[in-house]
Amino acid sequence: MESRPFSLAGMGCGTAAGGAGGMIDFSSESVPLSQALLSPQLDQRTATGMVEFDRLLGGGVVAGQVCLLAGPPGIGKSTLMLQAAAKFAQAGPAERKVLYITGEESLKQLSSRAARLGVKSESLYLLSETGLAKILGAVEKLKPWLIILDSVQTVYHPELASGPGSVAQVRECAAALLRLAKSTDMAAFFLGHVTKDGTLAGPKVLEHIVDTVLYFDTERHDLLRVLRAQKNRFGPTDEVGLFSMGEQGLKEVKDASSFFIADRDQKAQAGRSISVTLEGSRPMLIELQSLVVSTKYPLPRRMATGLDLNRVLVLLAAMEKHLRLRLEDRDVFVSLSGGVRLKDPALDLAACMAVAASARDKALPADWIMVGEVGLLGEVSRVPQLDNRLREAAKAGFKKALIAGRAVKDIQRGLGLELVGVSSLQEAAGILFGI
Ligand code: TYD
Ligand code: MG
Repeated sequence: MESRPFSLAGMGCGTAAGGAGGMIDFSSESVPLSQALLSPQLDQRTATGMVEFDRLLGGGVVAGQVCLLAGPPGIGKSTLMLQAAAKFAQAGPAERKVLYITGEESLKQLSSRAARLGVKSESLYLLSETGLAKILGAVEKLKPWLIILDSVQTVYHPELASGPGSVAQVRECAAALLRLAKSTDMAAFFLGHVTKDGTLAGPKVLEHIVDTVLYFDTERHDLLRVLRAQKNRFGPTDEVGLFSMGEQGLKEVKDASSFFIADRDQKAQAGRSISVTLEGSRPMLIELQSLVVSTKYPLPRRMATGLDLNRVLVLLAAMEKHLRLRLEDRDVFVSLSGGVRLKDPALDLAACMAVAASARDKALPADWIMVGEVGLLGEVSRVPQLDNRLREAAKAGFKKALIAGRAVKDIQRGLGLELVGVSSLQEAAGILFGI
């Protein structure tokens, strides 16, 4: 439907025309570039001290920055932002106020949640309201430097015929708040419920008008909640923040690797191997497990948990051919620990060696990691960001790395890992199993 211009006398928020074109016009005067560069002041960021959150924002929030925090209902958006709001409020002097606007909970519910989370700050203000005019009025009056709107689907503008949460309402209400933010250098976070299958897609219409789009989801991890920057005018987009939900709200996960390795001190076992994957630009150790047993069925079973089954089938075929591994009368199970789902070819080599180890009932050395892509011809090739991955493994105490022979010369010396280069599956099996 057509969105009508919105105006509130005395609100100082101007008009918000529908569509992106009308909304980006924040200055009607031409300004020399040299002066325009002075704002926004990227060197003056306010951080929360929650490393996993700040990193996503490029170190903190900038004056006037407008962020969309989207994710499925129940993922923890309100929890995250309430925790962040208190930290933002504590970050400056008491007169720098932060306003948390909720349209989903009563003040009582919100304050009891805050109490449960141990959230306290004199500069944090709460407002339970859904009417846009009242919200704008409250913001004008309080003059916070940061607002959090939870959620953008609950606000409504009475002049629009459609109900709260409709595309027109979301766009119009967000636009009014965005203009206010831009004209007063107030930072804003809009929370929005979005699902992957698109059943809740409303806030997606805001992606192109906000400065930063953050997605919060479980993604490939059932244990972890992943915060990802999909768009960021003032910071990086390849970073991820990792959190786990507990009794006291969201906890930052700084040592992600420990999440995916069942027991770091475990003795070597047949069928277990360790590799390093990447989450954004962040390396994480990952444990692979395999079980190869004789089958009781005419057609042997192949199961992959966390890995792509088709990929595993190709790797098994390559092993049958190039390692002469007989699997036609065996069931093969391969899984990643920690409920992770990954499509990282760098795990191929570790997956193959785990299967070969289980098939031969021979344990792989526990202080080795294996990183390499395996091709149809059984060749082992290099993978992106190998340096980065190996550094993480060295930090975690691993001693040797089995990698593509060609990659050895590219790796900086002094990582603290002994590099063992191989060009094929046969070579790798030769080194590990002496065949
Ligand atoms: P919430 O932040 O309300 O999700 P969203 O705003 O994205 O819809 O968090 C929802 C879930 O988190 C809810 O199922 C309860 C759970 N939770 C905890 O497990 N521990 C806590 O301390 C809090 C506050 C919530
Ligand atoms: Mg919520």
